[in-house]
Amino acid sequence: MRLADVLYSQGFGTRRVCAGMVEQGMVAVHRGQASPEVCLDPSVDVVQDGLVLHVQGVDWPYHAKAYLMMHKPAAVECSQRPSAYPSVYSLLPAPLRERPVRGASKGVQAVGRLDQDTTGLLLFSDDGQFIHRMASPKRHVPKIYRVVTRHAVTEVQQQRLLEGVVLEDDPVPVCASRCTRLGECALDLTLTQGKYHQVKRMLAAVGNRVEHLHRWRIGALDLPQDLAPGQWRWLSPDELARAQDAAL
Ligand code: URA
Repeated sequence: MRLADVLYSQGFGTRRVCAGMVEQGMVAVHRGQASPEVCLDPSVDVVQDGLVLHVQGVDWPYHAKAYLMMHKPAAVECSQRPSAYPSVYSLLPAPLRERPVRGASKGVQAVGRLDQDTTGLLLFSDDGQFIHRMASPKRHVPKIYRVVTRHAVTEVQQQRLLEGVVLEDDPVPVCASRCTRLGECALDLTLTQGKYHQVKRMLAAVGNRVEHLHRWRIGALDLPQDLAPGQWRWLSPDELARAQDAAL
């Protein structure tokens, strides 16, 4: 692929802007540990496999499709057009927001949403099929939430969460597939559906209240201990395979 087209595919701007960046000496290419070599020809053919672009001093590994995880902090919204807090997308670098995607949208999209005050693991991708598979309720991808409650969790409440509770706008009961009590006011709740405010509404339906909510697992992917709130990183090939296995 032409170097300018590679840059374009990674979200660095229009093909024209990308060609200009190359001509102005802003782009170097390298592989593995090799040192970056500035390339001034936008039409030069580059092999994408193992390619690392070096754009204005920053390394950018080539990814044909983008699969990322983020540790969502509190006080950010998952919407592209947030109303009260900054958007999670503002925590991603511009190329990830600008990557060309076939169809109407551009850039990566979050796989499902977390409330503004919920923290934890959030996946992003520009692969529509992956997003659909991971988010589809039909795939039953389990998600584990650590819940801190206002009142002590009773055995009756635990039992009701497992057996199913009816939420006010839907006659079909929703249930947790697991509910592990971790302390008087703390539990891990595993859900395979993804209804609006589901954890908060389930806890309210059994007479309790969520004080803090943190998602630490999606399918077979755990939020890594070393990913600080607000940070993101690419999924490794192994993590991507494990995420996809969970949604088969
Ligand atoms: N359930 C909720 O109530 N909020 C979230 O953010 C996620 C699940």
